[in-house]
Amino acid sequence: MFAKDLLKGKRILVTGGGSGLGKEMARYFLKYGAEVLICGRRVGVLEDTAKELMDENGGLVKCYGLDIRGAQDVDDTIEQIFLEGPLDGLVNNAAGNFISRTEDLSHRGFEAIASIVFHGTFYVTHSVGKRWLELDRKGSIVSILATWVWTGSAFTVPSAMSKSGIHAMTKSLATEWGHAGIRLNAIAPGPFPTEGAWARLSPGQDPNADASDGMYSGNPMGRFGEMAELGNLATFLMSDGCDYLTGQTIALDGAEYLTGGTFYRALASLKDEDWEAIKSTIKATNEKDKQKRSV
Ligand code: HXC
Repeated sequence: MFAKDLLKGKRILVTGGGSGLGKEMARYFLKYGAEVLICGRRVGVLEDTAKELMDENGGLVKCYGLDIRGAQDVDDTIEQIFLEGPLDGLVNNAAGNFISRTEDLSHRGFEAIASIVFHGTFYVTHSVGKRWLELDRKGSIVSILATWVWTGSAFTVPSAMSKSGIHAMTKSLATEWGHAGIRLNAIAPGPFPTEGAWARLSPGQDPNADASDGMYSGNPMGRFGEMAELGNLATFLMSDGCDYLTGQTIALDGAEYLTGGTFYRALASLKDEDWEAIKSTIKATNEKDKQKRSV
C-alpha cells in the first residue's frame, strides 16, 4: 500500500509493543523502514516479539522494560532513548482494562486502569513532547483509544473515563504544540480481537471466533477489523506528508459505533453469579500474566 521506505530514518516507540495491537503496529513500522522501539512490563515477551519481527522483516527492534505507571521510570527510560538518538514517533498503546459492574470496583481496581491509561499515557507523552520542544524537532504521537470516548461505556467505566481524558489530551496538545510541528492523533479501534483484551473484556470467548457470533454480530461490515487495516492507518499517521492532520481521533470500526449502541450493553442482563464467574476468569488471566513480568 505504501512505498517500502516510507518510514525510513524514523525512530518510533510503541508502548505495550510486545503483544496485541502494539505488536502489530510495530510490525508495520518496521516493514516500512522505521527503527522500532518497544516497551512493556514483560521483558521476555518484548524480546520474543523483537526477534520475531526482525526475523520476518530485518531491521532493528529495541526493547525497554518499563511500567508506564512510574513517572520517574518513564522519564529515565525516555532520557536513555533520546541519548541513543531522538524519537520521531510515539504510539501510546499500553493499556489495561477488564469488565466489571462499577459498583463492584474497589478503589484499587479503578486505580489499576487509570494509572496505566490516564496517568501513564500522559507521563510518556509529556516526557517525549518536552524533549521534542527542547530539541526543536517535530514528531507524531498516535494514541490508541476506543469509540467509547464518544459514547461512554457501561461496565468499563475506568477505561472510558481514562481514554476520554487522552482524547482531550490529543486535542489540547495538538493546539498547544502545533507551532513546533508536533502532531497528536488517535485511533479508536472497534473489535480487533487480541488475546489480552479478549481475556478481560469477553472472557471465555475465542478471539479467533467469527464476528457473526455473539455481541459483535451487529457490525455493519459483518466482521472484525483486520490488523493490516490498523497497521496501515498507524503507518499513514506516522509518515510525512499529512502534517496538517492533527488533533483527530479516527474511528476504525466498520461504522460499529454509529449504529447507536455502546459496547457491553448486552451485559446488563447478567446475574450476580455470572459476574463472580467473569471476575475469577479475568483474575486468573491477570495472575498468569503477572508471573511473566519482570518489572
Ligand atoms: C474487579 C478487579 C478485576 C476484575 C482486577 N481487579 N481484576 N476487580 N473485577 N475482573 C482489581 C483487583 O481486585 C485489585 O483491587 C486491583 O484491580 C488491582 O489488581 P491487580 O491484578 O493487582 O492489578 P495490576 O497487576 O496492576 O494489573 C492491571 C490490570 C491487568 C489492568 C488489572 O488486567 C493488566 O495488567 N492488564 C494489561 C493488559 C490488558 O488489560 N489488556 C486489555 C486492554 S483492552 P483490590 O482492591 O482487590 O486490591 C483496552 C480497551 C480495548 O484497553 C478496546 C476494545 C474495543
